[in-house]
Amino acid sequence: MTLKITITSTKGGVGKTTLTANLGGLLADAGNRVLLVDADIQPTLSSYYPLEFQAPDGLHRLVTGGLFDGTISGTVIPNLDIVVSDDPEGSLENWVLHTPDGRVRMKQALKNLSGYDVVLIDTQGAVGPLQDVGVLAADLLVSPIPPEILSAREFARGTLAMLDRLEPMKYLGAPVGHLYGLIYRMDHTVDARRVADGLRKATFAESHGTISILDTVIPATVAYREAATGQVPVHRWEKQRRGPTPCARETMVALVQELLPHVDLPADLVGEI
Ligand SMILES: Nc1ncnc2c1ncn2[C@@H]1O[C@H](COP(=O)(O)OP(=O)(O)OP(=O)(O)O)[C@@H](O)[C@H]1O
Ligand SMILES: [Mg+2]
Repeated sequence: MTLKITITSTKGGVGKTTLTANLGGLLADAGNRVLLVDADIQPTLSSYYPLEFQAPDGLHRLVTGGLFDGTISGTVIPNLDIVVSDDPEGSLENWVLHTPDGRVRMKQALKNLSGYDVVLIDTQGAVGPLQDVGVLAADLLVSPIPPEILSAREFARGTLAMLDRLEPMKYLGAPVGHLYGLIYRMDHTVDARRVADGLRKATFAESHGTISILDTVIPATVAYREAATGQVPVHRWEKQRRGPTPCARETMVALVQELLPHVDLPADLVGEI
């Protein structure tokens, strides 16, 4: 069984691509076979890690053809492959919009994909047909949320509207997965617990349990930017640090343990040795 996770938000610039790359890097280093899918027209994830092998095709063929054949490139990180975004003219969005089953082509393609434990799909930071493609392909959704109250309200409103709009897709065999909100880029001036509690109340009541807020919080630290510049997963970049903020390795391990409790993590990653 391949677990499909889509990182999504109705808002741009919240940390989706960074989170996708780092989750993928950690899961791959823990011995899982991982496939990243860059489903954003802006191909940021596609160049996050250097490629060892470039496939002839990418996202365009995957979505229009409903097939992975010829679309999977290899990154320099062992166990980590990627479908790169290759839609420079931006025709894909329109194609999905005007193709009756366009929104479920990736979901269909994933049914025939074997050899991967986890597929992580990065999406664009704006509502649109291509975002729907990623959301409908997933077993579960993760949404980074900026820890300011206004952004949090926007998260609740925007995300609930998206889930409501896509809900009828369950009648076509494409139910929307459970959505986990992840408080992301928390700086030490903000009281994490207060923001988290406020968000939990706001979203839980309104979403009738379809959204939950994770306990793990991703702090705002330079390590995430530096690791991106160095093109390495952040858990490798920052294995320990001084001060109250947990290091990136600890944070990413805590996230995987909470989100995917069935995944075994080696002792050196968990920090036991
Ligand atoms: N934990 C973090 N701490 C500090 N900066 C971060 C952190 N995570 C990501 N960033 C920075 O925040 C910026 C936005 O991140 P990212 O590109 O991942 O967002 P995005 O949601 O994918 O954006 P878009 O909607 O444009 O695709 C980047 O410059 C990234 O380096
Ligand atoms: Mg992005």
